[in-house]
Amino acid sequence: MRLNAGRKNCRGKGPPLCQKPQAGASNGAPVIGAARLARKRDAAIVRHPMAMDLAEIADVEQRGLAAFAAATSAAELEEARRVYLGGSGHAKRILGGLKDVPREQRGPFGKAANELNAKLTQAFEAARARLGSAAEAPRDGFDITRPGRRREVGHAHLITQTIEEIATIFQRLGFAQAEGPEVEDEFHNFDALNIPAGHPARNPEDNFYLRVAGAADGQPVPLLLRSQTSTIQIRTMEKTQPPVRVIAPGRVYRPDTVDATHHFMFHQIEGLAVAEDLTFGDLKSVLELFIREYFGADTKMRLRPHYFPFTEVSAEVDINCAMFKHLKKPWLEILGCGMVHPNVLQAVGYDPDKVTGFAFGMGVERIAMLKHRIGDIRHFVANDLRFLRQF
Ligand code: DAH
Repeated sequence: MRLNAGRKNCRGKGPPLCQKPQAGASNGAPVIGAARLARKRDAAIVRHPMAMDLAEIADVEQRGLAAFAAATSAAELEEARRVYLGGSGHAKRILGGLKDVPREQRGPFGKAANELNAKLTQAFEAARARLGSAAEAPRDGFDITRPGRRREVGHAHLITQTIEEIATIFQRLGFAQAEGPEVEDEFHNFDALNIPAGHPARNPEDNFYLRVAGAADGQPVPLLLRSQTSTIQIRTMEKTQPPVRVIAPGRVYRPDTVDATHHFMFHQIEGLAVAEDLTFGDLKSVLELFIREYFGADTKMRLRPHYFPFTEVSAEVDINCAMFKHLKKPWLEILGCGMVHPNVLQAVGYDPDKVTGFAFGMGVERIAMLKHRIGDIRHFVANDLRFLRQF
């Protein structure tokens, strides 16, 4: 467009500089194609202020304003600024060329050049304001206006909560917490608990016996998943001399058919106290304190005679309280208990003539189901968040 005009001018002005277009043309940036031609022309203009005419200024203005208006990113805007307002850009070049224009012609050129500079600057500022947030956005494109990601805070499973609540009450009564292995031998699960060979509780159909590699004829070997936390009574007494006072929560396993109230795995909490002169009265008062604390001060308790191999005497504890009014049953069975059988004390090396003890055991799922009105034991292991989040 202005190429020919430029040439004509420079021919008329002496040395044909326009024939060496690259001289002085580069501002350091690589020049190619159409842009290269433009730079050739620009070079001619710089060297020959007379090449500047008002049409050239109008042309730069038009292209510059369009470039600023068209910029859609901070990078594009910066490129347009560099070309039109930068140190080697068009505006500087045209203003700088003024000094070479003969003084008598400078008026209109000066006015046009200053106006060009002002308009380009204004257009640049407007584009910068328009692209402001984009220009400031970090390179990875993180959008600070997006809503935050909610961090899920989990909580203890209801069974864990129930165990902690019960254990805390017994801790206040001086019971330490004990534990034992889930894979047990027959001595701890049966023999030491006064459940002799041939007792129906040892029936292979009623226990998860483990077939250990190398066992002859695939016969069950004397290892099993414990069927009761009473095993921890034995393990504790083996390690400790009386007095003993422990509470022992844990999982137990029985091959029951799963339904709303039975599961092959559930939790029990065992209690054991052994010392000189402990009586059934001590057992009763400890259980009463616990029951009133856990089920409410209005709770009534009754002890019903029962049989357990590892206690003598033995009882089951029934409660009656406002919490279970809706069940419309006057008495609910919640645990088994009794005075530790002398055979059990003997099995761990205690002297039954010197010490006595009491023990009790309760099912955690059963207590949690009663307290929270849960109708199906399978909810505890189904991992359904709609259930778990309720507690
Ligand atoms: N181990 C018994 C069961 O699984 C529960 C039990 C009853 C534990 C009486 C005791 C106890 O310590 O004294 O059914």
